[in-house]
Amino acid sequence: MSITYLKSCQTFTFHTQNTSYQMKVGKLNYLNHLYYGPALGDADLSYQIMQYDRGFSGNPYDSRYERTFSLDAQPQEFTTQQQGDFRINSIEVVNADGSYSFNGRFKDFKMYNGKYSLNGLPTAFATDTDHVQTLEVTLEDAVTKVQVDLLYSVFEEADIITRAVKVRNCGEGTIRLKKIMSTCIDFMNGSAFDLISLPGRYGQERQVERQPLTHHVHKIQSVRGTSSHQQNPFCILCDHHTTEDYGSCYGFALMYSGNFLAEAEIDQYDQTRLLMGINTKQFDFAVAPGEEFEGPEVIMAFSQHGLTGLSHLYHDFFRTNLNKSKFVKEVQRPILINTWEAAFFNFDDKKLVEIAKAAKKMGVDLLVMDDGWFGKRDDDNSGLGDWVVNENKIHCGLNNLVQQINDLGMKFGIWFEPEMVSEDSDLYRAHPEWVMEIPGRPAVRSRNQLVLDMTRTDVQDYLIESVNKILDSANIYYMKWDINRSLTDIWSTNLPGERQGEVFHRYVLGLYRVMDGIIRTHPDILFEGCSGGGGRYDPAMIAYYPQYWVSDNTKPLDNLKLHYGTSFLYPVCTMGAHVSDSSPQVPIQTKATVAMCGTFGYELDATHLDEKTIAICKEQSDLFRKYYPIIFHGDYYRLTDPFTVGNFTAWQSVSKDKSKSLLSVVVTNLTVNGSQEYIKAKGLDPNRKYRVNDTDTILSGTALMYAGLPIPREIPEFSSLQFYLEGIGIVRN
Ligand code: GLA
Repeated sequence: MSITYLKSCQTFTFHTQNTSYQMKVGKLNYLNHLYYGPALGDADLSYQIMQYDRGFSGNPYDSRYERTFSLDAQPQEFTTQQQGDFRINSIEVVNADGSYSFNGRFKDFKMYNGKYSLNGLPTAFATDTDHVQTLEVTLEDAVTKVQVDLLYSVFEEADIITRAVKVRNCGEGTIRLKKIMSTCIDFMNGSAFDLISLPGRYGQERQVERQPLTHHVHKIQSVRGTSSHQQNPFCILCDHHTTEDYGSCYGFALMYSGNFLAEAEIDQYDQTRLLMGINTKQFDFAVAPGEEFEGPEVIMAFSQHGLTGLSHLYHDFFRTNLNKSKFVKEVQRPILINTWEAAFFNFDDKKLVEIAKAAKKMGVDLLVMDDGWFGKRDDDNSGLGDWVVNENKIHCGLNNLVQQINDLGMKFGIWFEPEMVSEDSDLYRAHPEWVMEIPGRPAVRSRNQLVLDMTRTDVQDYLIESVNKILDSANIYYMKWDINRSLTDIWSTNLPGERQGEVFHRYVLGLYRVMDGIIRTHPDILFEGCSGGGGRYDPAMIAYYPQYWVSDNTKPLDNLKLHYGTSFLYPVCTMGAHVSDSSPQVPIQTKATVAMCGTFGYELDATHLDEKTIAICKEQSDLFRKYYPIIFHGDYYRLTDPFTVGNFTAWQSVSKDKSKSLLSVVVTNLTVNGSQEYIKAKGLDPNRKYRVNDTDTILSGTALMYAGLPIPREIPEFSSLQFYLEGIGIVRN
């Protein structure tokens, strides 16, 4: 049983292989959070709650004269509003009578086998072999009859707990939600935490930041309408001494692609609270009597085996329980060549066929026709929204072009940016009311484009129909879904003034409906997400796209950092990574080594490559195919931190049975007369011998892990090394 309920003490305890999580219906029927951490059985841990008379921390009315009972110090699963808890809180609701108050007490619960799901938001799912149990706890405010359902699913083997929230209006008047956080974790005896987050910017996404929590409120958030380049809806709380390999850490990942908020605070009594959910920025959502509001899912994990242990939990979970596409497990991803950095808008059908012919010799499987094939689109000032083939460029028609590519033995992919519209487009001329624009205020332009009002069902239906029409008109194997700006001018012509606070969230709901209508109806197409590179690279998007373009920055040395940061949450198989013409000083082999920490492909004009380079590319493509099972299905290890000064960056993939491994090193600097450096492997079987790079060099797992491999010094600048380790037998003592 992954969830136990002890009636005598009214505790609910979750059990995964290595973790426990406990809550209890406590005093006055408030739901206490008691524990999250290493597995410890289901004994009632409420003895940990110490109560003292704390000045200026009020006592709920029905605690009467018990001045030691204050919600300001009680650990809770979901907070109240205006009941004397002055910390960051789970909910802010304006009741029908105008009051700001929620006093949720335990009302009911149910438990069942399997995973909960949400109606309008993507969630993780249980596979046939997962042991998953769900607990739904209902809290109710006795005065307003507002109910909150807390939903928990416990993935026993995966060491993962998911959590979501629903607010149901069982009262008589409309309420307005101003804040609703999907998770709240109180650490009674934990204040010595570091907070790790993944901030960034365009071209430099998911850099890693670590800072100790203090008594300030720490916020990680996006208010850009999408999960954004600037932050990622993920954070880690870990002990100050936690490293890659040792120490405790908690992960919180939000399945949401819009404005999000993670808040952490050490309170006055040195207890830590963490909340995560939809951002409160311009959020004001009306819930009428009988209606229900859903908050997105948070995927929580805990590891005692350092940051690598935590990443492995997420990597395995994302590869199994997020995305049902056959391209996640069953079908090997194609090696693609993308036309963007090869030709930008300047191509026609003949040029595409020429690129495909050259790419075929490089071992490429798939040609992706990027931006510029539709409407009037010769630069980025026009054409978005007109999803019809531009026959001035694709003279032979799409179907015929795809046929020519298929005849070369290659597959065909195509680019869309569904959520956007150019002012200079037939769509905008026909439907100016379909863009988000505040009445009387011309909307902010960004890349000269406007944002479609995704809250409108007519817009959603137009997109589903027009994109599907193209996808169904030819043998299309792959689609890249882009979004190239942040949202501003939040306004929908479809909603009255007092409900404009719903638009940010309704945009996301509309987007998921469109994605359902396009992606879920095309199970044979491989979808790749993109947002000017890796802006909106979030867990909900990974539920739709098996892969996501990591960054428009294809400089290989920058990519070392991009892959490193991204890997804290996302598995390598989600990371779109290409060899391009950028950084000419870096050898193409090194670029390929870097792109193999990802989906591997090319983004250059293959028609300009000489025969020697083409041969190198072919060799690299073949190597990628050889290593694919290890890279895509194995365990990934960060061996060095590219953000700290060093002479090389290294990482490693190890097959689950530890029989094969690929250890990659990129030498980023060759210090003059420097010391000899070594790289130590991780995750190998200490009792096995490994053959190195198919040569006669055979080393034990222990030698590779504890003594390491020397990095040669007499090599050209920016060289890379790949050590393919194949287990060949047991070490004898
Ligand atoms: C974004 C993407 C690029 C490319 C261009 C096309 O910037 O990240 O890969 O598709 O749009 O306009």
